[in-house]
Amino acid sequence: MKILVTGGAGYIGSHTFVELVREGHEPVIFDNFSNASREILPRLEQLTGKTPVMIEGDIRDTVLLSRTLSQQGAEAVIHFAGAKAVGESMKDPLKYYSNNVTGTQSLLEAMQENGVRKIVFSSSATVYGDPEQLPIPETHPLSTANTYGETKLVIENMLRAVSSSGPGWSVILLRYFNPVGAHETGLIGESPDGIPNNLMPYICQVAVGRRDKLQVYGNDYDTPDGTGVRDYIHVKDLAAGHVAAINRIEAPQCTAINLGTGRGTSVLEMVAAFSEAAGKPIPYEIMGRREGDVASCYADPGLAREYLGWEARFGIGEMCRDAWNWQSRNPMGYE
Ligand code: NAD
Ligand code: UD1
Repeated sequence: MKILVTGGAGYIGSHTFVELVREGHEPVIFDNFSNASREILPRLEQLTGKTPVMIEGDIRDTVLLSRTLSQQGAEAVIHFAGAKAVGESMKDPLKYYSNNVTGTQSLLEAMQENGVRKIVFSSSATVYGDPEQLPIPETHPLSTANTYGETKLVIENMLRAVSSSGPGWSVILLRYFNPVGAHETGLIGESPDGIPNNLMPYICQVAVGRRDKLQVYGNDYDTPDGTGVRDYIHVKDLAAGHVAAINRIEAPQCTAINLGTGRGTSVLEMVAAFSEAAGKPIPYEIMGRREGDVASCYADPGLAREYLGWEARFGIGEMCRDAWNWQSRNPMGYE
């Protein structure tokens, strides 16, 4: 299938691009490189044996998007493009409403104009707020405590409204838990700008010598070792989940599906697994809790298994091994 992949030059988009090509699809990347490097393109070519079709542009440019959909003959869209830093979203909410919400509205208008009505959207477990139930099923009440999460909720609502506005729309909302890891070749991986906000890229930068030590945010949570518990998922499993969603996109629907492993891992368990994979200790210090963090968050992945026939294959050991392989081969990321 010809698929427009917005944000296809980014972390999850690039891994999904490789998986789509491998499965015989024809993805077209649409990205403005606001959080990606052009260095990704030769690497995608090396991984797939094909020059990636790439349109540089902003998803808020409806005219360019519409022309791209029609010229490329796209039949479906996978929509990754957007801004994703929780802290930044509280300081600069308009950037988040503009990029994420206005950007998605523009994309849907361009799709409507061209009769393209199949879309897979990158949502997040952040829409479950502070979980009332673990593991978290898709039916869990939705709420959020930050602007980034609010934009994901608004977009989910926009997609639900569009899909019920008339026949023909097929929408799959994929709610990712915590994506980590990299392609096993070490050619592509996560390359955050500045100080990483998330655990795995921070640990990677400590291991490679870019940072002194990890700050562990809180060891007094109601969890087995007191540190936060999350459902880490290998980015290659996530990419495979998108291919599985594309294979189910024909039927009219609006379906929300968790992509997680169903297993929780604490911060200290992750530090231990990474030390083992990298063959070196990861120095850390215990700090106070980070505002907005929840104690535990992990998925009920049952619906993904039933509906998409998908389940995660990789464990924490493989996630750490591949993250370390990427970071040690590319100490400064794509820079
Ligand atoms: P990323 O920043 O690496 O990728 C996003 C891509 O979108 C980048 O290449 C960026 O240049 C591009 N982009 C941003 N705004 C754009 C715009 N206005 N027009 C065109 N391109 C634009 O992030 P990622 O980790 O790959 O995440 C992809 C999606 O998944 C995002 O929507 C994110 O919110 C969602 N998500 C990510 C995580 C995570 O932990 N990484 C978790 C849950 C959900
Ligand atoms: C973060 C986002 C969430 C987003 C998710 C996607 C916040 C508050 N939440 O979630 O909205 O959907 O990423 O992956 O940013 N930790 C440390 N030290 C660090 C970094 C993290 O101890 O330097 C701890 C955290 O307290 C948490 C765990 O590691 O317990 C995971 O943190 P992180 O990788 O930032 O992910 P989330 O908090 O789950």
